[in-house]
Amino acid sequence: MTRYAHITGWGMAVPERVLTNQDLEKIVNTNDGWILDRTGIRERRIASKTDTTASLATQAALRALHGTGVAASEVDLIIVATCSPEHLFPATASIVQDQIGASQAGAFDLLAACTGFIFALNMAAQAVRSGSIDTALVIGSETLSRLVNYQDRSTAILFGDGAGAFLIEGRDWPGGVLSSVMRSDGSGGELLSIPAGGSYMPTTLETVRENMHYIQMNGREVFRFATRVMASATREVIEEAGMRVEDISLVIPHQANLRIIEAAARGLKLPLDRFVINIERYGNTSTASIPIAFCEAWDQGRIRTGDNLVLVGFGAGLTWGALAMTLTERERPLKVDGRRSTLLVSRARLRSIGRRIGRRLDSLIFRTSSRPPD
Ligand code: UT7
Repeated sequence: MTRYAHITGWGMAVPERVLTNQDLEKIVNTNDGWILDRTGIRERRIASKTDTTASLATQAALRALHGTGVAASEVDLIIVATCSPEHLFPATASIVQDQIGASQAGAFDLLAACTGFIFALNMAAQAVRSGSIDTALVIGSETLSRLVNYQDRSTAILFGDGAGAFLIEGRDWPGGVLSSVMRSDGSGGELLSIPAGGSYMPTTLETVRENMHYIQMNGREVFRFATRVMASATREVIEEAGMRVEDISLVIPHQANLRIIEAAARGLKLPLDRFVINIERYGNTSTASIPIAFCEAWDQGRIRTGDNLVLVGFGAGLTWGALAMTLTERERPLKVDGRRSTLLVSRARLRSIGRRIGRRLDSLIFRTSSRPPD
């Protein structure tokens, strides 16, 4: 039987501390007008001493599970996409696995910079569709503020901290992840990197003195690359899914720069209101930006079950990718391919229903979608 990878839960977590453009004016030679005009950013969230990439990821993951009837112990796989992992190893995903009590899950990190969430979602969806696993958590989480040099105005203004997570479950009715593209061009690696701290250039007093442990970026070239690939990757996944651009309800792009999103909209001949944009409040949260934008769009009622969506991003590597998906109902829809069908539930779902039946009988059978807590 054909398996489909459905997105059935989602959640986000951002630190409380806000760093505004006005705050940055006091730290580095920049100004609110320039930042807003050139990037669309007004403020970003910054991790407190107790926030870490794993703690934000854990909160987002628990929110993604909340209300779905899936227990952490039923999750088969956890992928954390991040470019600010807690350590070189062990993987941040292993810490999350332990913190949420996902006792049956394999866990690993995926590094494809800001495109990481799309790559990870695609990998998890492939594993679910193959039948080798049934349930996966895909998380994008960052504390980039720890890797930014706040004396470097070209990067200090851009990045913020946060996390977002999707729960993916295997189903035997169509929907969920429909198509995807994953691309890289390693020849552009030097355009955006953290040069020191890896095995090629281990940390020394000299590398620290030279600020080589911070993000270094050629903004103009990354900008040029991004405007080239966003529209083309979006078009590719739409075509591969057998749809037309008009069939897409919303595009959820990586939030790197408002002008990059505007260029993508022009390239696709789509009005800007078909794009989810929240860069103004969070800046660039790298792997977390797409799931955070998704969660907010859902909360605002901009996404409904049945909608066709495209997620699209780019980042260091260079990497870029897109993914088309349909947000479907959690339980078997009453109509599949036009035919009326009985409401059936999987064995895993029955087990979970059994456990929860005393508490939430009324909401179990008729729940059609999960919603992160307010
Ligand atoms: O997830 C992927 C991560 N990276 C990106 O997406 C980055 C993509 N690139 C960008 O978003 C843009 O290139 C930036 C926002 C980083 C820079 O914007 P830009 O319009 O490309 O500026 P620029 O680097 O071409 O600099 C234009 C001017 C320069 O002054 P002069 O030489 O024209 O006098 C800069 O020195 O703006 C100056 N400038 C600033 N001024 C005030 C650069 N950064 C700042 C700043 N505040 N923060």
